[in-house]
Amino acid sequence: MRRREPVEQGARQVVTETEAVAAGREVTDARPAAASQPATGRGCDPGRRPEHGQPPAPVAGDDPAAPLPVAPYRLHVDGVPRRVTGAALEESLLTVLRERLGITSVKDACEHGRCGSCSVLLDGRLVNSCTVLAADAADARISTVAGLPADGLAPVLQQAFLRHGAVQCGFCTPGFIVSATDLLTRRPDASEDELREALAGNICRCTGYGRIIAAIRAVQAELAGGGEPAAGGEAAGDAGTVGDASAAGPGDGTGEGA
Ligand code: FES
Ligand code: FES
Repeated sequence: MRRREPVEQGARQVVTETEAVAAGREVTDARPAAASQPATGRGCDPGRRPEHGQPPAPVAGDDPAAPLPVAPYRLHVDGVPRRVTGAALEESLLTVLRERLGITSVKDACEHGRCGSCSVLLDGRLVNSCTVLAADAADARISTVAGLPADGLAPVLQQAFLRHGAVQCGFCTPGFIVSATDLLTRRPDASEDELREALAGNICRCTGYGRIIAAIRAVQAELAGGGEPAAGGEAAGDAGTVGDASAAGPGDGTGEGA
């Protein structure tokens, strides 16, 4: 009777290696090399892998999975019509603002609608621009932090952020300024709880939020004519690690820089 093979190929090699080690011989990997990646496999070819925040590279030929170019369109950003050409259908408003129009005050962090760093106003409505298709915003008015009125709430909030040490690295600041401007425009007398809830979609990894809340509360007090409460007052309960905000790198509240 014919003897059965004791093990299948992979386990067989383990037995062989174990035997070799026991015999004091050097073990070499005799397994066949993994199949090389196809040169044009979508998402598999490192040469075609998009950089973080970049749209996938267009693919020559008739690949049905290739991004579809769309007709040129205009975005109205901060009161200026901007022509967008060559954008793929799936490009987000965030990608188009930053990568095609060079508007870097709109920050790119999670790209999943979780952090608020890409906040803009779309026809006056607060949105995370990473969750909006740019082509869908073609007929809308888009306001970034840089386009908020110079005689409005945004500059007042920026100054309050600086006074209260609510700016450290400054990465989150443009998003907070846009969100806080939106809130105080609609609800200038919002309670601290309402304020915290309204800003829950904005993430700051540096300040602990207390100084941000204190800065916005101070602006509310100014608006109400009641003067400004001292920095670090009722809402300041953070880790207290903020130094001189005026020395905090890009953190001047404008969001300029990458
Ligand atoms: S980058 Fe848009 S919410 Fe985080
Ligand atoms: S993330 Fe650095 S100041 Fe908010």
